[in-house]
Amino acid sequence: MSDPTRPAGPKIIAIANQKGGVGKTTTTINLGAALCEMGHRVLVVDLDPQGNASTGLGVDDRPYTTYDLLLDDVDLSQVILPTGTENLSLIPATVDLSSADIELFSNEKRSFLLHDSLRQKGIDAFRFDVILIDCPPSLNLLTVNAMVAAHSVLVPLQSEFFALEGLSQLMLTIREVRQSANPDLRIEGVVMTMYDARNNLSQQVEADARANLGDLVFRTVIPRNVRVSEAPSYALPVLAYDGASKGAAAYRALAQELLAKNEKRAA
Ligand SMILES: Nc1ncnc2c1ncn2[C@@H]1O[C@H](COP(=O)(O)OP(=O)(O)OP(=O)(O)O)[C@@H](O)[C@H]1O
Ligand SMILES: [Mg+2]
Repeated sequence: MSDPTRPAGPKIIAIANQKGGVGKTTTTINLGAALCEMGHRVLVVDLDPQGNASTGLGVDDRPYTTYDLLLDDVDLSQVILPTGTENLSLIPATVDLSSADIELFSNEKRSFLLHDSLRQKGIDAFRFDVILIDCPPSLNLLTVNAMVAAHSVLVPLQSEFFALEGLSQLMLTIREVRQSANPDLRIEGVVMTMYDARNNLSQQVEADARANLGDLVFRTVIPRNVRVSEAPSYALPVLAYDGASKGAAAYRALAQELLAKNEKRAA
């Protein structure tokens, strides 16, 4: 993904929203799979102690995890694992990561550990085009690490009442990270998830989001689709589980829109 404001190396996108269950992990997995389908090399970093991205991608054996990368200085080559999806790699997480938030606190470089791991020269050897970081449902030090490491933040917004409520807190955190550690951090965009076109509420939330956030909101909307929710139990992205489903089509469209946005920015 070319972007003149960014030196060579993978584009790093943090997928964040402190609200739980809004589609962060689903978007990480399926946007990642869609980018791979289009020929890009993608790394998913599971930064959530729940380990949902790792489970959803079928990686049950996790000898080394994000915890080891951040706190035990284990080398990238040991923590990066292949997944069942071609060109999609993963740094998995386990519940171990839940103590990291506290352990990081006494570390002088506490906000920069993921940055230093992912922005090191050694990452070039893996030839990733994109790194997607699946954040936990909190604005804790793990999420701050993701925002310091990233070039941009992508925000999934569930098409539900109260969806917009937490956004100001999220935007404030992004602003603080810009001021303190990562002045170039952009907002990649906001994507409406679990959208039900027959539901007035979904339409209302979408209208509010577009009125408040304008072009930040992706044109592509991810519909509520049962195939999307079934796919993780088969340890597959929805694109592999049911490539003809509406959910798969929506994530392909999101990947395309994201690439087009980045190309336009680069032009
Ligand atoms: N488009 C969709 N259609 C149907 N179900 C969906 C869709 N997107 C997500 N879900 C389901 O909603 C639930 C929450 O999604 P997901 O785990 O991606 O959210 P999250 O923001 O990562 O949650 P957490 O905050 O716990 O990390 C999951 O059961 C998932 O399968
Ligand atoms: Mg999640």
